[in-house]
Amino acid sequence: MAKKITFHDHKPKTLSLQDAVIEGFSGRYKSIPPKFFYDARGSALFAAICEQPEYYPPNIEQTMLTRLAGEIAELTGTGRVVFEPGAGAATKIRLLLDALKPVAYVPMDISCEFLKQAAAELVDEFPWLPVHAACVDFTHSLPIPETVPAGPRLAFFPGSSIGNFSPREACEFLTLVGDKIGRDGMLLIGVDTKKDPGILHAAYNDAAGITAAFNLNLLRRMRNEVGVECEPENFAHRAFYNRELGRIEMHLVSRCRQTLRLNGYRFELGAGETVHTENSYKYAPEEFLAQASRAGLRQVRHWVGERGLFALYLLAPA
Ligand code: AVJ
Repeated sequence: MAKKITFHDHKPKTLSLQDAVIEGFSGRYKSIPPKFFYDARGSALFAAICEQPEYYPPNIEQTMLTRLAGEIAELTGTGRVVFEPGAGAATKIRLLLDALKPVAYVPMDISCEFLKQAAAELVDEFPWLPVHAACVDFTHSLPIPETVPAGPRLAFFPGSSIGNFSPREACEFLTLVGDKIGRDGMLLIGVDTKKDPGILHAAYNDAAGITAAFNLNLLRRMRNEVGVECEPENFAHRAFYNRELGRIEMHLVSRCRQTLRLNGYRFELGAGETVHTENSYKYAPEEFLAQASRAGLRQVRHWVGERGLFALYLLAPA
């Protein structure tokens, strides 16, 4: 069978890593947006995180998707155009393809090379599936490539990627997705739940240290790509559950008093000072459904996984 694959580079360079460093390190409170985790090495490290026993979301979500594929396809019908912001290795959509029989699949990701590779592997496995890969920064826009056929759409947003947005940004993103899917569109989204903080803490502090390596990869990128003079060894990984805000926070903790240099800039860090690198918000089902309704989406159905650890929502325009 002829394999159909097109690639669209939307050049997602809205804010370069260099600009993000200058912006994020200039104030008293230092931060870098989590999208900068995902260079080729970071994407591979994230795939490795998903293999860690403590990081429960992929396992539970995949079990749910496998078990629910038929039920989901009954609710969505077949023959939709499926697009997936932040598709990464496109692992989860594989579990739905035979049931959903999409007319086209549009994986979108910020990591172009990783995306190309993932798309090529996908068409090897599913030669009947037209794939229109789009290199985009979905935190900025969701351009659907012009080559994509008309027809009802299904947005797929698994893995609790929505958790990286603040609640306000999440509402904006859901509104944008609502615009993109249109009146006859649907959204299938996986969202991590609130739960025992011990389980959350372990998930972001895996014993093998993969999450730590993923977090510290930001410093390697800053050094190798931007030329920031810094020693990744002078930082430590820290992740904890902020109960008040309902989110996991990841930080890079400065192990000593140090100065990072970049061109003419000098960024001073005290011992113990942190760079905030990620938030991962957790939502109880009723909280998430309220959030979706603020974005003009109603639930078609939702499912809660084993021990309430993860939830899947099928949403449609209200
Ligand atoms: C990809 C944003 C869903 O928040 O759990 C995993 C990223 N960071 N371990 C998450 C992540 C550290 C992940 N998301």
